[in-house]
Amino acid sequence: MTSVTWRTRFEQAALHRPSDPDWTRGARLPRAVVRSVQRFQLGESSDGAGLVRKAERTGDADYAVAVKLFVAEERDHARLLAELLHAAGAPTIDAHWTDTVFVRMRRLVGLRVELLVLMVAEVVALRYYRAMRDGSTDPLAAEVGRRILADEQRHVPFHVAQLRGLPAPVRWAWRGAVAAATVVVALDHGPALRAWGVARRAFIRDTLAEAHLP
Ligand SMILES: [Fe+2]
Ligand SMILES: [Fe+2]
Repeated sequence: MTSVTWRTRFEQAALHRPSDPDWTRGARLPRAVVRSVQRFQLGESSDGAGLVRKAERTGDADYAVAVKLFVAEERDHARLLAELLHAAGAPTIDAHWTDTVFVRMRRLVGLRVELLVLMVAEVVALRYYRAMRDGSTDPLAAEVGRRILADEQRHVPFHVAQLRGLPAPVRWAWRGAVAAATVVVALDHGPALRAWGVARRAFIRDTLAEAHLP
């Protein structure tokens, strides 16, 4: 797919974004899920200005627009998760070490490496939001999981398209990073995943099965 096609897909998604669910009906979330969603909310809200600048420097205007819309979607994920937390009577959080490390790493590098780092989170997010969608007993939480997962399923092939043809050692290193991040998330978010009916081991196995670069 070309950048024009990606730009169109993101524009179409923006156009057809459904209106918000009724937050006023409130949400009942287990404590472990609240803590986990707070950390993912923070991760989704990471500033994308650096990525947009790098995309603009490629000289491909359609790609730059697609990246801007991608960043807007990630911000919307942060907003949806914040609304869900508020519906459950829980606050958002300001900082967590996993996020600080992630943001610092991304600032220091060029576009492709930033995408590689970003893709680690995107691949882990796929399994996480699938668990949230399928395992939540709370209808608002299941709906938020469904909406975010639908976007993430577009994000992964979008970035993969930019990362074609990387040398094998880079792809192996990337898979190693995915494995490490998956273990960290499985440990850190294990209780929430369990509440959604996903064991730590299954989370790690499924995430690694989906983590492939062409
Ligand atoms: Fe996201
Ligand atoms: Fe994403």
